[in-house]
Amino acid sequence: MCMTAMLPPLMLPKPPSSPFYQQVYKKTDGEWHAQKSKDGSSRIARPKKRMQRCSLVSPKLIGWTNISAEVILKEKDDVVERKMAESGVEPGGKYQTKECQSRNKIAIVVPLRNRTEHLKVFLRYMHPFLQRQQLDYAIIVAEQTEGSLFNRGALMNVGFKEAQLLDNFQCFFFHDVDNLPENDGNPYTCPEDGKPRHMTYSLSRWNNYKPFPGWYFGGVTALTANDFQKINGFSNVYWGWGGEDDDLLRRIKFHKMTPTRALDGFPSLIAMARYKTLTHKKAEPSPIRHKLLREYTKRLKSDGLKDLAYQRLALELKPLYTRVLVELQQPSKGKAPARS
Ligand code: BGC
Repeated sequence: MCMTAMLPPLMLPKPPSSPFYQQVYKKTDGEWHAQKSKDGSSRIARPKKRMQRCSLVSPKLIGWTNISAEVILKEKDDVVERKMAESGVEPGGKYQTKECQSRNKIAIVVPLRNRTEHLKVFLRYMHPFLQRQQLDYAIIVAEQTEGSLFNRGALMNVGFKEAQLLDNFQCFFFHDVDNLPENDGNPYTCPEDGKPRHMTYSLSRWNNYKPFPGWYFGGVTALTANDFQKINGFSNVYWGWGGEDDDLLRRIKFHKMTPTRALDGFPSLIAMARYKTLTHKKAEPSPIRHKLLREYTKRLKSDGLKDLAYQRLALELKPLYTRVLVELQQPSKGKAPARS
């Protein structure tokens, strides 16, 4: 089916020239140079002298993309890798905007297991997407070994910790591998401190782009490094499908932060924050996730970045991403729960 046929009847202004877009970006752009840690020291490198800062709205935006995994997968790996390298993608999936000083330096953290084909589509699509927004970025994939139940939250924490060892990122996009943003006017700019941003306003898989209710905080979320640290990251106790994203939202609210949405305050543009879902078999929901969720306050202080336990088995700078392969452990209990 042709995706464009399903788009809402929006007459969107063309991104680069419109003052309307300038407003949108002003509102969503966290301005990387403004993000300093509380002790006053700037953990983020200062902008290079002489090079001009990128404009608020990138002139490279193209708007909607008709995403087809089949088309994306047609090209051979070596051809794609060569083209990406020519576009400036460095080993480890790092990229620095060449033509101007980017306003944002972001890390995209992707939790993964057994989704090789989805990852391929994701990388081939996301690199050009992020480059069109003139971002400095790196893609870090946190992969869990076989045998144990999948733990999305703990893998996000792993990605965060490992990324911090690699570079100074102003903010983090915690990103499911099967969600692809359809419009590059959906800003992957950093949120402000205290305002974590939910990116996935709607998904093709979810009732054909029906907007998500406010309680949903899954799919793709963006937090500054400061905020993620402050809330102690994701909880590590959600083994199996579900709950960890609900827990994250509770942590955010508990710390009196304000959850926001991509393109908040611009109702006529909100549809731009829609995502195409790559198809996959739905996992079995964890039967204990609601119970864990009810008790989230009891664990807040320790459970998360602080007690994260894992063994790093590999750290590889692949041509299009940084791969961190880990064996997760249960804090203080050792071995992760096995798959039934
Ligand atoms: C789960 C969440 C999930 C949501 C939407 C909830 O029941 O706990 O993890 O994101 O459903 O699918």
